[in-house]
Amino acid sequence: MKLWGGRFTKETDKLVNDFNASIGFDKRLYKQDIEGSIAHAAMLGDCNIIPKEESELIVSELKNILRDIEDGNLVIDNEYEDIHTFVEANLITRIGDVGKKLHTGRSRNDQVALDMRLYIRSMIEHTNLLLKEFLEALLKVMKENINTFMPGFTHLQKAQPITLAHHLGAYFEMFVRDRGRLEDNYKRMNYCPLGAGALAGTTYPLDRDQTAKLLGFTAPTRNSLDSVSDRDYLIEYLSDLSIIMMHLSRLSEEICIWNSNEYGFTEIDDAYSTGSSIMPQKKNPDIAELVRGKTGRVYGALVSLLTVMKGLPLAYNKDMQEDKELSFDAIDTVNNSIILFTGMIVTMKFNENRMKDSAMKGFTNATDAADYLVKHGMPFRDAHRVIGEMVLYCLDRNISLSDLTLDEFKEFSEIFDGDIYDAISLETCVDARLTKGAPGPERMREAINEYEKYLSE
Ligand code: ARG
Repeated sequence: MKLWGGRFTKETDKLVNDFNASIGFDKRLYKQDIEGSIAHAAMLGDCNIIPKEESELIVSELKNILRDIEDGNLVIDNEYEDIHTFVEANLITRIGDVGKKLHTGRSRNDQVALDMRLYIRSMIEHTNLLLKEFLEALLKVMKENINTFMPGFTHLQKAQPITLAHHLGAYFEMFVRDRGRLEDNYKRMNYCPLGAGALAGTTYPLDRDQTAKLLGFTAPTRNSLDSVSDRDYLIEYLSDLSIIMMHLSRLSEEICIWNSNEYGFTEIDDAYSTGSSIMPQKKNPDIAELVRGKTGRVYGALVSLLTVMKGLPLAYNKDMQEDKELSFDAIDTVNNSIILFTGMIVTMKFNENRMKDSAMKGFTNATDAADYLVKHGMPFRDAHRVIGEMVLYCLDRNISLSDLTLDEFKEFSEIFDGDIYDAISLETCVDARLTKGAPGPERMREAINEYEKYLSE
């Protein structure tokens, strides 16, 4: 069923109908479509473009349609071209000729632009809320692990000791920035395209300020051609989502490494792991792997939409219908990934002994040993060379720096004294890192206080 049969003498080909139709996926916009129509109809009545009683009848019947869909009493029928056609046709079936007045001064071009904006606006808020819940979970784990030592890495080689709270704190920062991006996106996109018509506005005296206000927008959009052509806000949202996935994917990769038999830093809860059909001993980190894997399809949506839009002349072109399936898929993927991650991170067990043991090995205290010499007057470059030679000496003997006797220390430099052992202990190496942003527990507690404040705002 279509809205535009008048000018045609032949039926469209069945394959053309199927290829052209969007109802299979845009049915998820039913609520936004009806809310937009309610605002439009109310404004038409207030501006005397249609009689007030008719506008009221349209509004009340649109509310009935919404209720019937939500109660399951009205099933969205895939025989219609799109959700806009379905709602309007249903309205006409219910209230006859009055229903035919709803589309006065409106085009599906501004209608679909509005529906998508309303939907994406609510999704931006939803993703932001899910990220907040995820940050709450992350902060809980951080608070429990201010003194859980682990090696920090560069090049995936042990570098310097840190704590789990500090490591997860790095992700906390990333997701705070992601939320900021969503908030910026919201501010920039919250303008109402309704009333732009097909492309050039309309000759009816529509009150665009009224509809913008009714629908919770900051203001109406300023150029009708841009209003129906713009999908920037959606591209921005897909790029926000891509960055979120990139962050989740990095954390996924780390969790897979930490969960490996060789590392054994973590154990993922049974509820978030799966087994092997052949190897009975297996417990695999599938959720982390899937989130890492699904990052590709979210990037794909971003690149697809950028590509769809890049050659389009103004204003509306049917290519733009392609904005929906791919972004709906990306939105569902990201929101579900965040929800799963929230559950996984709070149920994960961390093997503190193993992490500490790993942090003590691999010469993670070599920088601190060099700093010891510097504090006793040796230039850093010389200290670096001395400790490097000591590391080589230890490697040959398969021991750590702290296994050396004081006599051995002194063979490398007379500066060394009995307090070297304390200076290069794991606890000192971490606790003494007190610059702002460093893993020392004092600093970490300060950061955690700030994070708590941020989450309570
Ligand atoms: N299903 C269409 C879309 O998603 C609705 C707009 C149709 N407008 C048009 N001029 N054919 O883009």
